[in-house]
Amino acid sequence: MHYDHNGEGVPLVFVHGFPLNRKMWKPQLSGLSDIAQIIAPDLRGHGDSEATPGPFSMDLFAQDLDSLLNALDINEQIVLCGLSMGGYISLEFYKLFPERLAGLILTATRAAGDSSEGKAARDDAVKRAKREGVEGIVNGMLPKLLAKNTQMNKPELVSIIQDMMNSISVNTLVADLIAMKERRDSTQILGAIQIPTLIIHGADDQIIPVEEAEAMASAIPGARLKVLPDAGHLVNLEQPVLFNHNVHRFLIEQIK
Ligand code: MLT
Repeated sequence: MHYDHNGEGVPLVFVHGFPLNRKMWKPQLSGLSDIAQIIAPDLRGHGDSEATPGPFSMDLFAQDLDSLLNALDINEQIVLCGLSMGGYISLEFYKLFPERLAGLILTATRAAGDSSEGKAARDDAVKRAKREGVEGIVNGMLPKLLAKNTQMNKPELVSIIQDMMNSISVNTLVADLIAMKERRDSTQILGAIQIPTLIIHGADDQIIPVEEAEAMASAIPGARLKVLPDAGHLVNLEQPVLFNHNVHRFLIEQIK
């Protein structure tokens, strides 16, 4: 498993979304390592981590994170920040290893499982990926990933994201889609979350509507919700300064 590891202090583990890799956390690696020990892994099959044939599951990804922490000899409690699929994995990690966590940052994600339409869309995406390759999925997804403002004013960022997405293999992409389709619903556990939780969402997220973040914020006791303007699904890349500012405040006020 490949990972970036930078800084000192409370371990802050970043889990990337689909179909991305650890490079999506570049602004956090540089902007937050003065107050935390940043760990940003590539999930299995993604980025530079070894590929396994699948099937994958949110549970398996969460177990991988636990193994990585063991390998790094990190025994103190961590703050776990997951974006989208990374958020699904973070909630699964909470179910499996609650004692490992000092806090949660749920970014551009939802607690609910896939609806029946959502599951059908995953099946269509699997067929499309097998027929057209990774580019078929990337071309369909990219316009929905970013806010209009980002697409118009940050062409360099758009092409970095496009390259990152295109670097995934069809096998990993398909295994991710099936794992997300089959993931467990996490809404029932929200009311029992006893650790500080920050929820960050882009106001213009077209992949996961902001109502999902609002629903999690009202269900998790004491959760703090930040909706960032001019940001779509990749809120940490589209609004890096505001994103880092909110994480920084959360760490100072609720973790340390
Ligand atoms: C992600 O950004 O990780 C995925 O798009 C989430 C999803 O498809 O449910």
